[in-house]
Amino acid sequence: MKVIAGNWKMNGTRNGLKDMVAALQNVETENKVILCVPFTMLGVDGGKVSLGSQDVSTHDHGAYTGEVSAQMISDTGAKYVIVGHSERRQYHNETNDIVRQKVEAALSAGLTPIVCVGETMDEKQAGKTMEIIESGVRESIPNNIDKDIIVAYEPRWAIGAGLTPTTEEIAEAHKLIADTLTSMGLAGTPVLYGASVKGSNAAEIMSIPNVDGVLVGGASLKPDDFIPIITSVK
Ligand code: PGA
Repeated sequence: MKVIAGNWKMNGTRNGLKDMVAALQNVETENKVILCVPFTMLGVDGGKVSLGSQDVSTHDHGAYTGEVSAQMISDTGAKYVIVGHSERRQYHNETNDIVRQKVEAALSAGLTPIVCVGETMDEKQAGKTMEIIESGVRESIPNNIDKDIIVAYEPRWAIGAGLTPTTEEIAEAHKLIADTLTSMGLAGTPVLYGASVKGSNAAEIMSIPNVDGVLVGGASLKPDDFIPIITSVK
């Protein structure tokens, strides 16, 4: 069983989500399918598909115009939230420290956070990939948690770029993440790979050790692209 999570980013409509949910109802799979959509689409009946948001406030409630709390997300029936996505880190200056506060907020409202870590091209070229990944995991995830989380390794230079790391690079990153999680008392936490996943590479990527699923951006927007990823593995 793998976790196949879609990230719609700032795309789609409520009707488009209903169409996607309808298209996914008849797909035979034992994999866990999640769609993380804009806040405005939460509350749509996901059927067999679990819904999530793409961000959450660090705050519970109060005078924070434009923000949405974990409790509000949970109130729509959503179960998941992507936290610390590369685009949040890049365009909204989210640091590991902020991400950890968001993870805490999500967990306290009963949401399962999908915590993203990964290196930029500059960090990769400076030979810092492993360091960035390990500090991302250690600093973005609170200590002593006893609730489920999901981690996603997303090499930031590969997102939306049609680029993917080599199989060896993905294997090395996922081994490091799995070992780091184990040292934090979080052995068995699913670790997804994300960045330029599509139907033609999904099965191969998910056959790499310690890759427990995928986080899919562009190829999650249309059933014709998303379904082949879901059915590419058992
Ligand atoms: P991509 O995006 O699949 O379009 O590369 C992945 C992501 O940003 O989660």
